[in-house]
Amino acid sequence: MWLQANNLSYDNKASVRINNGAWINLNNTTCDVAEPGKSYGGIGGGHNTIKMKLALPEGLVLNGANQISFRFNQSDGVTIGYRIIRLNFLNAGGTRLMPASSFADENPATWQAPRPGASDVAAGQQLWRNASLNESYLPNARVLQAKCADCHAQDGRDLKYFNYSNRSIVERAKYHGLSVTQAEQIASYIRSLTAPAPATARPWNPPYQPGPGQDSKPLVEWAAGAGIDAVLDSDAESLPYIFPNGVNEAALATSSTLNIREIPVAMQFLDWKHWLPIIHPKDAWGDEFNNSNLNKMYNGQGSGNTAINLRRSLTTGNQTYRLGASTCQVCKPICRIGSTSGICS
Ligand code: HEC
Repeated sequence: MWLQANNLSYDNKASVRINNGAWINLNNTTCDVAEPGKSYGGIGGGHNTIKMKLALPEGLVLNGANQISFRFNQSDGVTIGYRIIRLNFLNAGGTRLMPASSFADENPATWQAPRPGASDVAAGQQLWRNASLNESYLPNARVLQAKCADCHAQDGRDLKYFNYSNRSIVERAKYHGLSVTQAEQIASYIRSLTAPAPATARPWNPPYQPGPGQDSKPLVEWAAGAGIDAVLDSDAESLPYIFPNGVNEAALATSSTLNIREIPVAMQFLDWKHWLPIIHPKDAWGDEFNNSNLNKMYNGQGSGNTAINLRRSLTTGNQTYRLGASTCQVCKPICRIGSTSGICS
C-alpha cells in the first residue's frame, strides 16, 4: 500500500484495515517512509506530509472492490487526527494499480455552513472570541485563558484561507470542550467570512512553499504556496531551477536576481497548523503576560503601562510607524521602529 499522509505526528497514531483483515498500526517500523521525509525523522519527524509504503500480507487485497478503513487511535494532547491525501496499491514492480482518475478532490468553494442563520453565525463569532476552552479532551485538561482568537488569526481567517473543513473545525471545537451546537456555530462563522480562500490553500500545502510560477499568481494566493507537490525529493533537483541555462556564472552574478520564491527546494516548509502556538503566552505566563507591556502594545489588552498599541498604530498610524520614516528624538539616529518618544520596543 502506498500512502501520502499529513500530520502523522507520532507512531501508532493511525491504523489501517483492508477488508476484514487485522488493524495494522502505522509507525516507523511497519512503514517504509520515502526520502527525504525518512531522514527528517519519518513519522513524527520534521516533514508534516510524508509518503510511505506499507507491506501487506499476500491475499489481503482482492481483485475488484476492497474496503479500506482508517482509524485515529489516540490524541497526544496536541492533535486530533491526520489526513490521508493520496493512497494507492503497488504491484511487486512498484506500479500504481489505481489510476489518478479514480480519485476526486472536494471543492472547498462548495462547502456550506452547517448553521447558516445569522444568529448562529453571530454566536459562532462570540464563541470564537470569548468561549472558555479546555486545553484538550483528555482527562484533567486545564482550562485555558487563551481563546480561539488568540492562537489563530484574530478573526479566524486562517481557517477560512487554508480551507479547513467544517468537520475539522467542529471536531477541534469539541476537543476544546464546546458542545456540538457551539462547534457548528463556530464552523458557520468561519464559512461566513469574506476573507479569501484560494483553491490551492489546503491544510497540507505549506504556506509560501516556493515553486515556479508563484510570482505571477494573484497576491492573495501567495501564502498558499506552490503546493506539496512542489517540494523536491532531493537538494540536487533544485539545480536546473537555479541554472535554467546550464551551470554558469551569470546565473549567480551579484548583479542579477535569483528569485527564491520560484526555485523549488527539498525542504518542506511547515504546514499552517504547525505555525500555531501549542501553548499561548497567556497560559504559559498568565498575568505576567496579560498585564505586560508587550500584550498592551500588541493587543491593547491588560494593564500594561505603555501608551503604544502596536496593532492600532500599524493599521491607523501614519508615517511615524513606517521604518526609517522619522528619527527618534531620544536614540537617534538608529531607531528601528520609527519611535519619536524613546520607547524602543
Ligand atoms: C492554545 C492555542 C490554541 C487555541 C486556544 C485554539 N487553537 Fe486551534 N490549533 C492550535 C494548534 C497548535 C493547532 C495544530 C494542532 C496539530 O498540530 O494538529 C490547532 C489546530 C486547529 C485546527 C485544525 C485541526 C485539524 O487537524 O484539522 C482547527 C480547525 C482549529 N485549531 C480550530 C480552533 C478553534 C475552533 C478553536 C476555539 C474553539 C481553537 N482552534 C483554539 C492552537 C490553538
